[in-house]
Amino acid sequence: MANIPTPHISAPYGAFARTVLMPGDPKRSEFIAKTFLDSPELVNDVRGVHGYTGYYKGKRVSVMASGMGQPAIGIYSYELFNFYDVSSIIRVGSCGAYSPELHARDMILAMGACTDSNFAAQFGLPGTFSPIADFGLLSAAAAECEKAGVNYRVGNILSSDVFYNDSGTGMEEWSKMGVLGIEMESAALYCNAARAGKKALCICTVSDSFVYPEENTTAEEREKSFTAMMEIALKIAEE
Ligand code: HPA
Repeated sequence: MANIPTPHISAPYGAFARTVLMPGDPKRSEFIAKTFLDSPELVNDVRGVHGYTGYYKGKRVSVMASGMGQPAIGIYSYELFNFYDVSSIIRVGSCGAYSPELHARDMILAMGACTDSNFAAQFGLPGTFSPIADFGLLSAAAAECEKAGVNYRVGNILSSDVFYNDSGTGMEEWSKMGVLGIEMESAALYCNAARAGKKALCICTVSDSFVYPEENTTAEEREKSFTAMMEIALKIAEE
């Protein structure tokens, strides 16, 4: 495998399972591996982006962090899809909610990801690309949310390049278009999956609401909803 190891991933070919769960935070990937996986093996630690492969109820699954933002998830998802033959990436992240129907700890299944990023310009399309989730993963996740009794919505999110936005939040304009919330990674992930002919889904737990800014969650509550999201992602992971 000519491209392995890459500048960002030191693992040998075959070290990743067919499905990689991808939180933003490297500490989260270590927590997931050690909490949910049997026999987790460290397969990458370049730049502290720990990647693990282990087993969830006998199913081989990997978990590796993306870091923050579309350039970062763009690099990791590209290398996993194209060099390591990974077939699905499930982002398990957090987001800010724009919708009044969503409160802290609820979940969004990102059917589509709008963006203010120029990431898709590289594809040279004669129009605007719509980054979308894989329907199989999306419908499986929705079924698991139903079973778990989670309050969730399926729809569009905004993948922004800007956390501290000088021209305001843009919330009003995006929510007029039915956009449910904001995060910073999914559009690039969906673009790379489309280009590689692979599958992707983003599941987000609402960490903060723009509609109910007073809503605060305790660390314990955040942990609980995070655990529920992880279990949904692990259940829908394809072998
Ligand atoms: N903006 C961008 N990303 C986020 C936010 C936000 O407000 N909350 C959680 N992830």
